[in-house]
Amino acid sequence: MTDQHPLDDVDQAGGCMVTAEAMQEYRNRKRNGDSTPPYDVEDPILSLIGNTPIVQYPEDLPGDVCVKLEKENPTGSMKDRIALGMILEMEESEELAKDDLVVEASSGNTAGGVALVTNRLGYDSVITTPETTSNQKIGYVEALGSELVACPIVDSAHEDHYRNTAESIAAKRDGVFLNQYHNQLNPRVHEKWTGPELWAQMDELTHIVCPMGTGGTLSGIGKYVKEQDESVDIVGVDAEESNISTAFYGDDPVEYNTEIEGLGKGSETPTMWFDYIDRVASVDDETAITWTKKAARGHGLLIGTSSGAALSVAREIAMENENATIALIACDGGEQYFDTF
Ligand SMILES: Cc1ncc(COP(=O)(O)O)c(C=O)c1O
Repeated sequence: MTDQHPLDDVDQAGGCMVTAEAMQEYRNRKRNGDSTPPYDVEDPILSLIGNTPIVQYPEDLPGDVCVKLEKENPTGSMKDRIALGMILEMEESEELAKDDLVVEASSGNTAGGVALVTNRLGYDSVITTPETTSNQKIGYVEALGSELVACPIVDSAHEDHYRNTAESIAAKRDGVFLNQYHNQLNPRVHEKWTGPELWAQMDELTHIVCPMGTGGTLSGIGKYVKEQDESVDIVGVDAEESNISTAFYGDDPVEYNTEIEGLGKGSETPTMWFDYIDRVASVDDETAITWTKKAARGHGLLIGTSSGAALSVAREIAMENENATIALIACDGGEQYFDTF
C-alpha cells in the first residue's frame, strides 16, 4: 500500500487535461458554448452535445491513461453526436426534409440520441430495438417521445430482425432510415467532431483505445488523428466471440456472442474504416466486467462495460510503456449498467 493519494499522481499527469484549472476552463467553455463544434446549433439542449471532459485514470501505472467521458453527453453516450450530425448533414444534402419520419435501429445508445435530437428538431421518429434492450436505454426513447418498436431476437437475415424492421417501417411509412451500420456519415461525424475535439484536448498522444460496434467512433477519430500524426497507434476493442477482429485479421468468422452492450458485431460493416486502425484487441466478457467494476470500486470511475473492456487493453499498454499517453474513449457511463455491478 502506498500513502500517495491518487490525485497526487493526477496533478503530475503529462498528457491529460486534468488539473483543476483546466477542468474549470473546460466547464466554462462548455457553459459558454465555446467548443467550436462543427455543427452550428443554437438549441440550448442540443448544444450540450460534445465537448466532453477527459480525466486521468487514477491508477499508478508507468504510462498515462486518459479517459474521455462520453457519458457527459445529454443522453449519456457518444451516440448523441452521430444522431445530431447525421440528421443535420442529411438535412443539408436534402436526403431528409422537415416533415419526414426519422427511423433508426439501435440496440441501445443511438436510440436515446435519435430520440433527443428528433424531439428538439421537431421530427416524428420510430426506433426499433431488440426486445432485450435494457429498460434504462428504452427509458430515453419513451421519455423523449419517440415511437418504440421492440423486435424479437432473430437472425440478422430474418425480416423481423430490428434492423430489417426499421428498413421496412421507413419504406412503408415514407420515412428516412438513418442506418448507423451502413451510413458513412456515422464515422464522418466523428472525423469532423470527436477527432478534432480529442486532438485539441491532448497535450501528448501515443495511443487511442476505443470499443467497436459499428466502428464509427474509432474510425472517424482514427482517420482525423492519423492525418495529424500517423505515429499514433489506433487500437480497436472487440468482444472475444465476435467478428470485427476476425474480419480485420482475415480469419474465419466465429459465432457472435457477447453480453457486453455496444461491443462486437456478427460481421464487418462499411462503417469500419480499417485503413486507419492499427490493431483490434479481443476481450472476453468476464474481463470487461471485471475492469468496469475495478474502475468503479477502486477509482470511483463509473464507465460502461464496453469501456471496461477498453480499459483492460489500455492498462496493458500503459504497463508495458512508460512513455505511453493513451486516450481511452469511454462510450458511456456505469450508471447504465448497475444491474451488472
Ligand atoms: C456502450 C457502447 N460502447 C461502444 C459502442 C461502439 O461504438 P461504435 O458503434 O461507434 O463503434 C457502442 C455502440 O452502440 C455502445 O453503445
